[in-house]
Amino acid sequence: MGIKTPGSQSVALGIKVLGLVLIASSVAAAPPGPLAPAASIAGAPVAPPVTTTVLPPGSELGDEIFDRPREVFRSESRGGHRSQLVVLGEVAFNSPAILGAAARRAGVSCNTCHINGTTNPRLYIPGLSTVSGTFDTTGAIFNPHADDGVLDPLTTPSLRGAHSLAPYGHDGRMLSLRDFVRNVISNEFAGPEPSQKLLDALVLYIEDIDFLPNPRLLADGKLAQPTSESEARGEALFNRPFTHDPSSSCATCHPPHGLFVDHQQHNVASGGTFKTPTLINANFNGPYFHDGRYVNYAQVVAHFDREFYLGLTAQDRRDLVAYLQAIGDGEQPTEPDSVELRLREIADIVAVLDSAIADHDAQVSLLATNTVDRELRDLAECFPEPRNVNVSGGLEARARARVMLKSLVLVVRQISVASEHMKFDEAAMQLAAFKNSLAPATEALNAGEPWSLFNRGNHDAHFAAVRALNRASIDPRVRARRPDND
Ligand code: HEC
Ligand code: HEC
Repeated sequence: MGIKTPGSQSVALGIKVLGLVLIASSVAAAPPGPLAPAASIAGAPVAPPVTTTVLPPGSELGDEIFDRPREVFRSESRGGHRSQLVVLGEVAFNSPAILGAAARRAGVSCNTCHINGTTNPRLYIPGLSTVSGTFDTTGAIFNPHADDGVLDPLTTPSLRGAHSLAPYGHDGRMLSLRDFVRNVISNEFAGPEPSQKLLDALVLYIEDIDFLPNPRLLADGKLAQPTSESEARGEALFNRPFTHDPSSSCATCHPPHGLFVDHQQHNVASGGTFKTPTLINANFNGPYFHDGRYVNYAQVVAHFDREFYLGLTAQDRRDLVAYLQAIGDGEQPTEPDSVELRLREIADIVAVLDSAIADHDAQVSLLATNTVDRELRDLAECFPEPRNVNVSGGLEARARARVMLKSLVLVVRQISVASEHMKFDEAAMQLAAFKNSLAPATEALNAGEPWSLFNRGNHDAHFAAVRALNRASIDPRVRARRPDND
């Protein structure tokens, strides 16, 4: 299994600092010029962007978002716990190590596009995207052999409820989620053939991702009372037979009692045949349609009105939009990034490590150490060095947090080396040491949190400066093509 070397990890680390990924032929040989500016963030000297040969200039992964999509699990909503295998699936989902070399170098994992099992409306890779939120799965960057020579990017579907949303792919080409995931890893991202266990884990993890609860929807898909007048009219319109084709309505393809999907593919005059997407939690799934051509419901409704000759009045269209907004909503769609959230992720990985070491499973142990290493380094960057002038105060607390995280990284390294040499007693000892260090580390992280990038003001100031720096360093021609995400 392709585990990253420490060297490539530090490249990925540099990329993360900048939020954007830049290209150059060689890091060391990069000449001063537009790609290696004598850069400064608000007056303070910072290193020029760390470069990689993977993603083109102007790429945006949007990984600096502060509010993260909230993830809820079917196992937990039923009052149970997530199984070990599901948690392993989550670790794999967050790990570039299961994908091919290009994705690993760029630090891209499933979670880069499907953030917390949802979508990523900010993702933009010049040459692979037409608008933000789209990605060409048959482009050359991640797997030259999969390149079909056509720029036909697709939106990243949210995986909330994917369990019940077969067939898979916008064109619904695959009935099996397992086949789909295997194809993503081995073909789209040129990764090594995943083991059966890993594939099982990923599929179980995806199948466990639930829709966000929407108290406005009843079990049969009807809107709960009270509704606004506009929503009630919208609901009636949604179910009303079309004038020119009385055998269909919005509801025939999007049946409310069946998660608003008929599991069929249709040609709705959008340039091909595509599966009916669910409308549950769809408020958070934009941009809409397979190619992300529409940014809001009003544009989608206008499309159906025009292409299906519905003859809707302006009021009808507003009513349908009000209805879509009501059924597409979800409780607490995001949660702010925090030390607590990150520590929960680390605890999940530690649980995976625990059983991998007990089972003497070197492959899983290496996957988990690789992932926790990335998480810890990523976390360390949230406690900026003194030279970052966008963050002030708490210098000592920040330094202490970084020191604690660095010492955890060293212990993880020991676990990794021990696992690689099948010395599982040694790995178990080091894991115990890691767990012992977690309590004081947690204390240090909590103490430093107010001065870290988990403080919204610090976060916004820091990334505004980073974006300005990157914008100045990318080719203006690329910049002009790239929709502004700010
Ligand atoms: C660079 C962005 C990107 C990455 C990385 C990525 N995906 Fe996707 N994913 C997409 C896009 C775009 C689609 C739509 C593809 C299509 O319709 O053929 C998709 C579709 C899917 C679907 C089908 C969902 C549905 O309802 O039809 C699943 C499942 C999925 N991805 C899982 C994964 C897994 C598992 C990984 C990691 C092994 C992964 N993806 C990595 C962008 C990405
Ligand atoms: C013949 C079946 C069919 C009918 C009728 C239909 N839809 Fe759809 N709907 C689809 C398909 C297929 C797509 C995806 C199109 C694409 O990806 O290009 C879609 C996409 C959508 C989307 C975007 C969701 C997303 O995540 O991209 C919304 C919103 C929507 N439909 C609402 C409606 C409304 C409102 C009506 C009635 C005015 C309606 N649909 C009628 C099949 C249908």
